[in-house]
Amino acid sequence: MNLTLKIWRQNGPKDKGRMETYPISDVSPDMSFLEMLDVLNESLVAKREEPVAFDHDCREGICGTCSLHINGEAHGPDRAITTCQLHMRKFKEGETIYIEPWRAKAFPVIKDLIVDREAFERIQQAGGFVSVNTSGNTQDANNLPIPKVDADLAFDAAACIGCGACVATCKNASAMLFVSAKVSQFALLPQGKVEAKERVLNMVHQMDLEGFGSCTNTGACEVECPKEISLDNIARLNREYLCATLSSE
Ligand code: SF4
Ligand code: FES
Repeated sequence: MNLTLKIWRQNGPKDKGRMETYPISDVSPDMSFLEMLDVLNESLVAKREEPVAFDHDCREGICGTCSLHINGEAHGPDRAITTCQLHMRKFKEGETIYIEPWRAKAFPVIKDLIVDREAFERIQQAGGFVSVNTSGNTQDANNLPIPKVDADLAFDAAACIGCGACVATCKNASAMLFVSAKVSQFALLPQGKVEAKERVLNMVHQMDLEGFGSCTNTGACEVECPKEISLDNIARLNREYLCATLSSE
């Protein structure tokens, strides 16, 4: 395949940034999107030009670092996959592909296509955990019977990989889908009930401090989420938040 890439280049957080054009040829339809960028970078290095900086780690849909806006869609044109799982066969011969970083105030650009997603880490640190006594008296987890339906829903919520596509897709740059997944994975289980009130209040407070926008229920986040995190989790987050607020008054 012969393609034209329009890629966002930005030297650092303070640089204004601009789109640069790169023609690329001999792209195999079986290459992953990141492999195609590897080929581009090898050719740039061979020409003594600076390679395009982009984030990646596992390259198998697990780590959530490969965050690219491709032709205006988070993780590109396919559904329920991350950028590293996207293949070039999804594009047409001769196509022009626009590649940009996530766009959100809370995710400032570090360089080119890499953004700083530490805001998500700080939200997690505010309450995305359960405190477990590891003094030697820890109970076997199987001592707590949990209905299968709850275990399945908690597992589905825990599938969130923190990629940030939900934020990048939302016109308000809201982080509600991410936070709702992190709250739900514990709210559905007895182990998460002990700290439930503090957890939801602290995580929502931190989300607001980070500058994420409000949720206006467009549902765009659910469509672009590579792990198909359900909007039902946002409803659960709202219930948890309301209960926590009322019980603290
Ligand atoms: S909810 Fe989905 S889109 Fe948002 S961070 Fe988690 S996996 Fe990514
Ligand atoms: S590189 Fe880990 S999810 Fe894509």
